[in-house]
Amino acid sequence: MQHEPISLTELEKQVCACHACSLADARTQTVFGDGDPHARVMIIGEAPGKNEDLQGKPFVGAAGKYLQELLALAHLEREQVFIANVLKCRPPSNRDPKPEEIQLCAPFLRMQTRAIDPEFIVTLGNFATKFILKTDVGITHLHGQLHQTGKFKVLPVYHPAAALYDPKKRSALEQDFTLLGQLLAAE
Ligand code: URA
Repeated sequence: MQHEPISLTELEKQVCACHACSLADARTQTVFGDGDPHARVMIIGEAPGKNEDLQGKPFVGAAGKYLQELLALAHLEREQVFIANVLKCRPPSNRDPKPEEIQLCAPFLRMQTRAIDPEFIVTLGNFATKFILKTDVGITHLHGQLHQTGKFKVLPVYHPAAALYDPKKRSALEQDFTLLGQLLAAE
C-alpha cells in the first residue's frame, strides 16, 4: 500500500500517545522516533536512557554515536533512516520494563511502523528482537540473519551499547551493518 507523504510532526501527532499515558505523566520529555518518516530502513532500539530523556530523541549518547558509525558501513546517514524504540519512555526508577508497560507502548510502535512502512527493520539487541520477531531465541543466535515478518524484512543485530566494550560483538555488528548495505544495494 502506498502511503501519503507524512511529516515527522504529523506522524508524531498520529502515533505518539505519550500525552495520554500515565507513565509519561511526570516527565518533561518523551522520546518519540527520529529521522525520515519515509525511510527504507527503520531501526528499533529498546528504551531511552538519560541523555535521550533530556533531548527527547533516541540514541543521542555513546551508543548513538556508534550507531552512526555503523550506519555509515551500510552507506546510510542517520537522517536517512527512522530510529524508534520499543518503549518511548522509561519511568526514571525503572531499568527493567514491566510487561504491562511494554503493553501500553506496543500499539504506538506498531502504528509508527505501519505509517513509515519501511522495507527493512533492524532490531538492536535481545529486547527489540524478541518483541518484533516474537521469539525466545537470543540475539547471539539470530544476529545477521534476515527474517521475513509479514511484509517486513527484519535484520536482528547486537545492541550497539552492548558492543561498545566487547570487540567480538563490535565485529559482528560491523559485519551485520555491511550486510545491510549490500541488501539495500541489491534491492
Ligand atoms: N538505547 C536504546 O535502546 N535506545 C535509545 O534511545 C538509547 C539507548
